[in-house]
Amino acid sequence: MSWQGIVKHYIDFFSIDEKNIITLLEGNTPLIPSVCIGKSFERPINLFFKYEGLNPTGSFKDRGMTYAISKAVESGSKAVICASTGNTSASAAAYSARAGLKCIVLIPEGKIALGKLSQAMIHGAKVIQIKGNFDDALKIVKEISEKYPITLVNSLNPHRLEGQKTGAFEICDVLKNAPDYHCLPVGNAGNISAYWMGYKEYRSCGKINSLPKMLGFQAEGSAPIVRGYPIEKPETIATAIRIGNPASWDKAVKARDESGGLIDMVSDDEIIKAYKLLAEKEGVFCEPASSASVAGIIKLSERGFFQGGETVVCTLTGHGLKDPDNAIANSEKPSSIEPNISDILKIIGL
Ligand code: F0G
Repeated sequence: MSWQGIVKHYIDFFSIDEKNIITLLEGNTPLIPSVCIGKSFERPINLFFKYEGLNPTGSFKDRGMTYAISKAVESGSKAVICASTGNTSASAAAYSARAGLKCIVLIPEGKIALGKLSQAMIHGAKVIQIKGNFDDALKIVKEISEKYPITLVNSLNPHRLEGQKTGAFEICDVLKNAPDYHCLPVGNAGNISAYWMGYKEYRSCGKINSLPKMLGFQAEGSAPIVRGYPIEKPETIATAIRIGNPASWDKAVKARDESGGLIDMVSDDEIIKAYKLLAEKEGVFCEPASSASVAGIIKLSERGFFQGGETVVCTLTGHGLKDPDNAIANSEKPSSIEPNISDILKIIGL
């Protein structure tokens, strides 16, 4: 049978009447073997990229959103609301459009990538830009959803994490077991928590017989979990993870500690270096926040963390096309000349 989306595919791990499922056939994303980065380490590892940019709205959020919106429909909700650094709003807007729900999104003004903003707008969401950051926006939408009949679809909504756990299932289905390490960028800290839940559920039902160590990476200027206190004014070029007080802080720490993993941070320079390496040496275009996971793996390898030979999966959370401004700013500018063959040959070096 053709792919039916994550809820139908893993229906035994969900609790919903199938007729209420709202899907864009998300999931079933490729687990791409690294051809360069993993092999380039002093002690090479068996590295894979879970390329979540190939979901319908271009990020992993679709896994959580299909279930959160389906459950909102099932409960009779007519409207949903979220705060977002961009991807959640794009996904909420698309799934709400499909379900016929009203969708309201709060975003930090000037700090969301162009592609994401365009998605929320074209799907017809009510887009409200606030002169504040993600943490301010999340506080407001929480309050609104507690007082009014509007469903919150941030990852505080447990259905979001339930959906996102399927990323772990798919990896195990391909590898036929869990990887040794699973590495993710950490922002609001929902995804690392969801993956950990997924691995544990898969082991409980005997689909795998081991668990990975969970590795999370925050951006240096937005690293509350690493530093141990909320960051009032988080900053990073990776706007998707520009978050100072993550909602799933405790869950992420639990995933780290139960698995024997770690949560560390990488600088913006390291993020951009990994972003370019992925694009130039692996042929994989992801957004800057996504490459924080790969920047983290590179940093760990330089510290002698890996023995060599381990299977490591990095989730590449969002598509590079989400953020064309960063792609252009970090690449060689195209030359612009008259249509003259000899000048063109000179530029090519022939
Ligand atoms: N990578 C991307 C591309 C993201 O959009 C996000 C979060 C993360 C990583 C971090 O995941 O929050 O589960 O730890 N984006 C949210 C949003 C906050 O509003 O789109 P997390």
